Amino acid sequence: MRNLKIMLAMAVFLAMGAALAWAQDDVMFLNSKPLGPHERPLVKFTHAKHSANIKCVTCHHNYDQYFNLVDDSEGMSCHECHKVAPTPKNKISLTTAFHKQCKSCHEQAASKGKPGGPVMCGECHERKSSDEFLAAQAKKAKK
Ligand code: HEC
Ligand code: HEC
Ligand code: HEC
Ligand code: HEC
Repeated sequence: MRNLKIMLAMAVFLAMGAALAWAQDDVMFLNSKPLGPHERPLVKFTHAKHSANIKCVTCHHNYDQYFNLVDDSEGMSCHECHKVAPTPKNKISLTTAFHKQCKSCHEQAASKGKPGGPVMCGECHERKSSDEFLAAQAKKAKK
């Protein structure tokens, strides 16, 4: 009985933590540190909206050397496995990983006549939202 109470308390605690984490990540500006200062404006990504209809493992995957899906990688950054330049262990560079994953799904949707996302550089690397985000961050850092 006591164990059950502890378990319930933990479940509530975990659910609250998850709710907080999700509130933060509804919309994110992708800014992989290993890419250094970005050439292009930062890309705004509606994580919550995307996760509503797409399985986590579709994006948060992990493959073995034969390209079998072996695990998910939720909570890991893409750059933990995809390096700035391709390596023997992982031939897909970080920028290619993002471009391939984001664009190919949007293209597939469009080719089926379904609503998809952007495929043009400036539609993802959007100057206005990126500048606004960076200005807001700079303001926060000053406080
Ligand atoms: C579907 C969205 C999407 C489209 C379309 C797209 N990109 Fe990207 N691009 C990304 C994402 C996401 C990243 C990774 C950003 C990060 O994590 O920092 C990225 C990274 C980059 C980077 C490395 C980071 C930097 O700014 O130096 C370059 C350069 C780049 N993209 C150029 C382009 C060019 C040129 C095009 C058009 C031919 C293009 N992208 C189209 C989403 C997109
Ligand atoms: C359409 C692709 C996509 C889907 C679906 C998706 N994610 Fe993500 N997720 C991302 C990307 C991209 C990032 C940023 C990774 C990076 O910057 O390296 C991310 C980041 C995260 C992070 C880290 C948050 C942070 O602030 O750094 C967590 C945790 C996460 N996702 C969990 C999930 C879970 C759980 C699901 C399923 C309910 C899910 N994701 C579905 C693409 C996706
Ligand atoms: C735990 C390690 C790991 C993480 C984290 C990871 N990947 Fe991968 N990914 C791999 C491996 C391994 C391959 C196969 C590489 C090869 O063929 O050399 C791969 C292949 C890919 C491919 C090409 C095949 C495909 O599925 O279309 C894309 C695109 C890709 N990853 C994008 C991403 C993005 C975007 C993220 C972050 C949301 C991410 N990966 C996170 C390990 C990872
Ligand atoms: C497996 C499919 C899939 C993947 C992977 C995916 N998207 Fe999307 N994306 C969609 C669909 C479907 C829509 C259209 C949603 C709608 O209009 O209801 C969309 C819409 C968008 C939009 C338009 C604004 C919005 O949020 O609705 C942007 C920007 C976008 N995606 C960026 C990205 C980026 C950046 C990545 C990679 C980190 C990515 N997407 C990965 C399917 C995907």
